[in-house]
Amino acid sequence: MRRSAVLLAVACATLLAPGIGAPVQRQGSRNKLLLVSFDGFRWDYEQDVDTPNLDTMALDGVKARYMTPAFVTMTSPCHFTLVTGKYIENHGVVHNMYYNTTSKVKLPYHATLGIQRWWDNGSVPIWITAQRQGLKTGSFFYPGGNVTYQGMAVTLSRKEGILHNYKDEKEWRANIDTVMTWFTKEDLDLVTLYFGEPDSTGHKFGPDSQERKEMVAQVDRTVGYIRDSIRRSGLESRLNLIIASDHGMSTVNKSASDLVEFHKFPNFTFKDIEFELLDYGPNGMLLPKEGKADKVYEALKDAHPRLHVYKKESFPKSFHYANNPRITPLLMYSDPGYVIHGRLNVQFNNGEHGFDNKAMDMQTIFRAVGPSFKRGLEVEPFESVHVYELMCKLLGIVPEANDGDLSILLPTLTPETNGPLSTPLPTRTSETNGPLSTPLPTSHSGGRPSLVTGLLAAVILLAKVA
Ligand SMILES: *[C@@H]1O[C@H](CO)[C@@H](O)[C@H](O)[C@H]1NC(C)=O
Ligand SMILES: *[C@@H]1O[C@H](CO)[C@@H](O)[C@H](O)[C@H]1NC(C)=O
Ligand SMILES: *[C@@H]1O[C@H](CO)[C@@H](O)[C@H](O)[C@H]1NC(C)=O
Ligand SMILES: *[C@@H]1O[C@H](CO)[C@@H](O)[C@H](O)[C@H]1NC(C)=O
Ligand SMILES: *[C@@H]1O[C@H](CO)[C@@H](O)[C@H](O)[C@H]1NC(C)=O
Ligand SMILES: [Zn+2]
Repeated sequence: MRRSAVLLAVACATLLAPGIGAPVQRQGSRNKLLLVSFDGFRWDYEQDVDTPNLDTMALDGVKARYMTPAFVTMTSPCHFTLVTGKYIENHGVVHNMYYNTTSKVKLPYHATLGIQRWWDNGSVPIWITAQRQGLKTGSFFYPGGNVTYQGMAVTLSRKEGILHNYKDEKEWRANIDTVMTWFTKEDLDLVTLYFGEPDSTGHKFGPDSQERKEMVAQVDRTVGYIRDSIRRSGLESRLNLIIASDHGMSTVNKSASDLVEFHKFPNFTFKDIEFELLDYGPNGMLLPKEGKADKVYEALKDAHPRLHVYKKESFPKSFHYANNPRITPLLMYSDPGYVIHGRLNVQFNNGEHGFDNKAMDMQTIFRAVGPSFKRGLEVEPFESVHVYELMCKLLGIVPEANDGDLSILLPTLTPETNGPLSTPLPTRTSETNGPLSTPLPTSHSGGRPSLVTGLLAAVILLAKVA
């Protein structure tokens, strides 16, 4: 999971014998890039569902055994890591919700999508960087793609309405058609496209449910539709496609006898709290009142074996999360299976994310195919923070300062592509390269907790917090 741990499955050189008769692109032409995110696609969701399109894509391109998201494993923070290459403490989008500890304002996920100052907090995402270097970009529902950064907006942007139905397959296809015209008619170089599934279904019914499996089949059909659309649009030899996600999903044990409930903790009182962000899955933040910080910390630190409460300065550095002015003096997370209930129990989801980003249930997917990618290559797990550098390389743009390392994913590219940045990206289609016959086994050693599916329900904003 660390950068040094990324190993390639095979010595790929043998795969890349020069393609005989493969068309060489005109000098200086630049490949286009489509980044697609299917929210909450856990790394192993394909293992219990027939996914012919994802399977074909793996044969035609690159597949990571899994990808490790950033902590906190939430939608907006993790999506912003993909497009900035920064850990969450370094880009500042630390939560799905905008909040202000002074005014006490808290806004839900969808409203926060439109709060420019929440996103534009000193980091410049890839759309803006690309545009500054002369490219044209688009964002279709991608979190963070519908606000301005340092005064600049994404060239073409779409934001979903507040009561958007995230699972309408017909609409998904229409959105893909629109994105294709953005590439062909508007000549965009980079588009990020977001789908709110299988996250919503995973929350509502749980990751082990039949409903989730059906949704993964819908995602797979959509992957097929995307690839067909790329072909139909004549983009196959000059468009790279990356399919990724933000985090996984874990079953909530709603029948656990030891629920994490603040209202039951002895020695803790909300009277000592100035501002709280609880009832949001397995994460919480607290601002104690003046002079109460130690008292509150003492009351909470051993209050529950499934709850891990830290002072901001002691939060594990490996999470790369707490070192940001937006993080409150106390913060916490719970173990997979448990959510954090505050004053009342108002969380009813059967699936949640937001847990430790090293938990196997939080691992997610990375797939790529296109003229710049090797074929039939499976790579070992890596952190999502590295995707940004790869995308900049594919687009031939100079990245902003970031936490990623290009060398991690460079080996996924064909030798023609992974030359120095200054050269234009000459690419050759790799139809002549057969798929790798011996992909890495996909077994894993992680301790993935098996949890029981609970009851059900859906709650106001929590249902749609992605
Ligand atoms: C938070 O709210 C306070 C009080 O309304 C306001 O003075 C402050 O500017 C706000 N902070 C941010 C970062 O918006
Ligand atoms: C980031 O946001 C915080 C408040 O949330 C604010 O105090 C700070 O000035 C912002 N930084 C930048 C560079 O926008
Ligand atoms: C946000 O999206 C809408 C369309 O959904 C678009 O009209 C608007 O220009 C976008 N705003 C920005 C700042 O990207
Ligand atoms: C869920 O909680 C119940 C009651 O505490 C416990 O018996 C059960 O083993 C838990 N299930 C899982 C999958 O952890
Ligand atoms: C609560 O406070 C009392 C008195 O300080 C102490 O004896 C007790 O151990 C505390 N309980 C917990 C769960 O911290
Ligand atoms: Zn998400």
